Formats: sequence, C-alpha cells, structure tokens
Amino acid sequence: MRERDLVWNKLEKARQKFNRTSILEQFQKDPQRHDVFSFRLNNLFVDLSKNLIDQQVLKDLQELATIQEVDKIREGLFSGAILNNTEKRPALHVALRTPKSSVITVEGINIVPAVHRQLEEMMSFAELIRSGYKKGLTDRRFTNILHIGSGGSLTGPMMVLKALTSYQTPHIQIDFVGNADSSDLQAKLRKLDPATTLVVIASKTFSTQETILNAETMKKWMLERLGPSALSKHFVAITGNKNRANSFGIVDENIFEIWEWVGGRFSLWSAVGLTIVLGIGSENFKEFLRGARAIDEHFQNTAPEMNLPLILGMLEIWYTSILNFGSRAIIPYDHRLQNFVSYIQQLEMESNGKSVDKLGNKMTKKTAAVVWGAEGTNAQHSFFQLLHQGTSVIPCDFLIAAVSDEEFTGHQEVLLANCLAQSRALMTGRNLKATTKKLGDSGLSDKDSNRLAPHSSFAGNRPSTMFLFKQLTPNILGQLIAIYEHKAFVQGALWNINSFDQWGVELGKELTNEILPLLQNKTLASNLDPSTANLMEEVFRFRK
Ligand code: F6P
Repeated sequence: MRERDLVWNKLEKARQKFNRTSILEQFQKDPQRHDVFSFRLNNLFVDLSKNLIDQQVLKDLQELATIQEVDKIREGLFSGAILNNTEKRPALHVALRTPKSSVITVEGINIVPAVHRQLEEMMSFAELIRSGYKKGLTDRRFTNILHIGSGGSLTGPMMVLKALTSYQTPHIQIDFVGNADSSDLQAKLRKLDPATTLVVIASKTFSTQETILNAETMKKWMLERLGPSALSKHFVAITGNKNRANSFGIVDENIFEIWEWVGGRFSLWSAVGLTIVLGIGSENFKEFLRGARAIDEHFQNTAPEMNLPLILGMLEIWYTSILNFGSRAIIPYDHRLQNFVSYIQQLEMESNGKSVDKLGNKMTKKTAAVVWGAEGTNAQHSFFQLLHQGTSVIPCDFLIAAVSDEEFTGHQEVLLANCLAQSRALMTGRNLKATTKKLGDSGLSDKDSNRLAPHSSFAGNRPSTMFLFKQLTPNILGQLIAIYEHKAFVQGALWNINSFDQWGVELGKELTNEILPLLQNKTLASNLDPSTANLMEEVFRFRK
C-alpha cells in the first residue's frame, strides 16, 4: 500500500476515537491543549482549541502534508511554478505584495519591478481623482465611482471597502454593480450625476457577459447625457484584454493591466484594487498589502507545528474528507465584514470544488465543503438553531475585534459576549440531566421539566475556530484574507487538485449562450431537454 494511503487509513481510524471522545475531555487529557492550538501573530489571535482534533491527529495530518510535498508546492507558489497545470500558468498573487527587492521570474523575466511600477501608477491615478485634480468632462470633480465587475473582479473591492468603511474618504461614494438584473444598476443610477461619476470596469477577460452588459448600458447612459467625449474621461478599465477595452472605447491611459498569472479570485491585490485605493487612499492600501505580506512570510518560514494556514488547511481536510462534514459556516461578529462570507465562499468553493485531481483522476475523497454564513449577532436569530441542535455538525469560524473603532460605547462588549458565548455553548452543550435540573430549579414541575428537557438540551461538542483581532484595520484585513488564501492552497495541495482553475463555471455560460438567442427570437430548439423546453414555453406564455 502506498505511503499516502497508509496515512489516510490512520486518519480514518482516528475518526472512531473522535466518536467516543469530546473536545471537553480533550482539554482534561491535554493540559497544553490551549497553547498547542492557539496562534498569536501580528495583532491577531487564532484559537483552534475548540476543534475536534488532538495532537496525534495533527501529527498524522502533518505526515500527509510531508508525503504530499506541501512545502515543495508552496515553494512553487512563491517562485512562479506552473501550479495551474490545466491553463499552464503560475498563480502569483503573492508577487503582488512582495517587496521591491524580491525576484520572481515568469518566462525568464523578473515581474517584481512591473508589479511595483503598476502599484505606483494606480496609486497616483487614484490620488489625482481623490484630490480633485483629475476631473470629469465638465471640469467638476468626481464624487462617485461606479465599479462594474463579476466574481473576483467585484467581490474583492466590494468586501474590502465595506470592511474598511471607517477608512474611507467621505467625499467619494463608491457603488458596485455585478448582477445582470438591471434593477441593480437602475437603483445605483438613480443617485448618480454623470458629470461627477467615474465608471471603473473590472474584467480580466473583458468578456464576462454580465459585466459587459452593465458596461454597455452604463456607456449609453453616460454618452446620452454628456456626449461621446465622456468616454475618455469617465471610463476606466482594469483588464487583461487591452484590445477589447480599446474597442469598447477606453483610452490607453485609463487602462490598468491584470496579468495572466493573477487569478480572478486572488485579484484584489492587483490593479483590481484601484477601486480600493480610490476609497481608502494609497497609504491604507499599502498597509493592506503589508498585512498580507506578513502572512506570506509566516506561511513560508514557520515550522509546520506553528504554521497557521497549514494547520487550518489540514484541519479542513480532516473535517471534510475524514469526518465527512459537508459544510462550514463563517460568522463574522462585525457588520462591516458581512461581505467577507461571500468572498471566502468564492475563494474556497471555486478553488477546491473539484471532483478530479490535477491529472484528471476521479477523487476518492470528498473535497471542498460548502462555505456559507452571515454576520453575528443577526445570524443567531436565523440559522443558529440548526448549529446548536440540528443533526449536522457544522464547524464555525468566528471573527471578532477586541476593540471597536465605532463611537457608541457598550456595543462591542455585547458583541464580544455573544460571540464568545456562542462558541462556548457549541462546545460545552448542556446534557439532559443538567437541563432537567435547570428547568426544575426555574420552578417547573417534574413532569414539565422532563417533557421539555429533550427540547432544550444541547449535545455540544460542536467545533469552532475563533479569529480574534485587536481592531479591524487594513493590515488585519490583509492578514485575514491571506490566511484564507493559503489555507485553500494547502487544501488543494493535500487533495492534489488544481486550486487555480474553474472549469466548472463554463457549461452554464455555454448553455446561456444557447438559450439567449432562443429567448430573443421566441423559438425553441429540438435539442432542449423537456423540462427546459416547457419552462421556455411558460416564459413565452407569460410574455404574450
Ligand atoms: O466565475 C468565473 C470567473 O471566471 C471568476 O473566476 C472570475 O473572478 C469572474 O468570472 C470574472 O471574470 P472576469 O474578471 O474575466 O470578468
């Protein structure tokens, strides 16, 4: 039997142990548990001790990481190896936050100088807009930015700007449009004045259907109001396809390049971050990059036992492929991190939601869990019932700041108390006996206590990870995102899958292109399946 299979078997056996023990028992058995499973780095404290794991499982997972040569693949990540084997490209988002002195070569050319040149260019462009020096066609300063994009070309800037609301300049309002549904764009347009609006179109391919549809509608809207000369002053493109942006009408000096080696879901560190700089300014953006860089260094240089992204990635393998947990919830106790959930959803599910390995062999293990969640405390009043008492075990990631930068006192304590209490309740639970006693103590009769106890007792032993940070700063946000990026990378390396392609989104796009002309021409095609054909007939009937 291959070495790798032996370790998987060992992990399978360890699962049985976890059917018989609890996290609380693990704390009793291992007095060092809290130290072993908690990490302090750069104003960030990550507590993994409330997870269904022990030191032995961690060792077995490390053995798997050694066999899978995760360290060698990691070296490839940082040095520009062709990790995206299906598309024959490196995945070099880490180059976008590397210091000027680094050398990373792609096809024999050191890309680091170009990265820093572009960063300078986008920062100076953004500062000219922010200061009001660069104006619109009618010589009025820009007060609004409309960012159009999809997937990684949208969610990154959208998530960061929401998270860093308190760092945003008040005199520039930034809105985002992604959906093909025109009600999204319409709602945004109602409050925009064309003379003071700058449109940023972000699309690596410059061919994503929704993005181009919104961009064309926006162009029409703008040109009808300001005339054709508005195109050169009011439109910016961030793209890997300069020709298409030119054909759209965008002038060269307003085009920022997305290099081929920047994956869409990792692109917020690239020129796609222009909108972030427009919102929070160059210094804050540099701080954001520095946060991510600190995690890159930690990930590259820290021993396996203390390497946070490595351990988080391994834990996820244990949960998904061995304990068979199908999903994981991300619950930021911070309203400003509400878009963080969908951002990580794309990062993890688009990266690792695959059924074949790098070589195209069918996976025998379950891969990427469904990532979902919502902000606390709101989520406590919706899906927490299932987290506490449902039949599925769903590991949770909690994220919270110790210090709030908001002005109302008392709120952060309530938020913290809720967050800590929820993770504690998930772990400790409350058994039938204790619940019956509690109900009796509250004055209920024995009969009622016994009747209600099964409903209000909690099995507990439900795992969670706590990301506690001092304050939600650009640096901390950069760190958090980079931790999740590297964690997803580790998962891919352990499963031996390509985390950097996304073929799974293609079929839907192709079939949309088949259905769209049918809808436009009000016809059916003989190759449609009966259900889709019926649905289209219903559409035609409704539209009559
Ligand atoms: O959803 C598929 C995808 O290719 C993502 O990976 C990407 O972030 C998004 O579409 C947008 O692509 P583009 O930047 O080319 O418009």
